[in-house]
Amino acid sequence: MSNTPLISLRNVTKEFETKSGEVITALSDVSLDINRGSFVTLLGPSGCGKSTLLRLVGGLLEKTHGQVLLDGQEISSPTSKIGMVFQSPALLPWRTVRENVTIAADLGKLGRKEAEKAADHYLEMVGLKAFETKYPSELSGGMQQRVGITRALVHDPDVLLMDEPFAALDAMTRDHLQVELQRLWMAGDKTIVFVTHSIPEAVFLADDLVVLDARPGRVAEHLK
Ligand SMILES: Nc1ncnc2c1ncn2[C@@H]1O[C@H](COP(=O)(O)OP(=O)(O)OP(=O)(O)O)[C@@H](O)[C@H]1O
Ligand SMILES: [Mg+2]
Repeated sequence: MSNTPLISLRNVTKEFETKSGEVITALSDVSLDINRGSFVTLLGPSGCGKSTLLRLVGGLLEKTHGQVLLDGQEISSPTSKIGMVFQSPALLPWRTVRENVTIAADLGKLGRKEAEKAADHYLEMVGLKAFETKYPSELSGGMQQRVGITRALVHDPDVLLMDEPFAALDAMTRDHLQVELQRLWMAGDKTIVFVTHSIPEAVFLADDLVVLDARPGRVAEHLK
């Protein structure tokens, strides 16, 4: 195992220009190292740049200044090594639950057999096996969110970026999925970056806790 961090943000600043021409600094001079195989939770108030940070690491946004590195290489576009669970699940409405979670096979990014087997396993884990032929509009918000989680897991990425994945779930489902996610992490060699507003959730899950401050977003504490 190498000692270099798997993900490294070096003096990263991200500015957005709004439609009215105002410049918003979402992240200011953020430096953060995430080790291979770690479970990192990102905690911070609304608007402090958590989703922005995940999107930068996922290659979905371009930084304004600094470096965002995966294994020492600049991240500039999405890669199949990184899977993302979005804050809102962004499912394809014309595909069933099962078709949504096996989309990687249709895009040629995963073998069909492998994808179907993983779909069986993870749909069972998130409690949606009985809903696999339903369409997103026939599901509740929390169920849709679980489809988004399953889609990312089926892909079996090395890095899992999860943006408040359990926020819309009832307490029992949330507890169950926290335990399952931790089990999955302990059984494998995945690196997980998990955004949450919940301090108990952050403490339960993480072996590394990063606290962000707002306006502009910066790292206030990094507890290991
Ligand atoms: N596409 C965009 N255009 C303009 N401003 C943006 C854009 N995306 C994010 N921002 C701004 O960047 C800041 C950080 O947003 P971000 O979504 O990263 O926050 P967050 O920490 O994920 O908040 P929440 O906990 O509410 O999800 C906010 O001030 C937001 O208004
Ligand atoms: Mg967010």
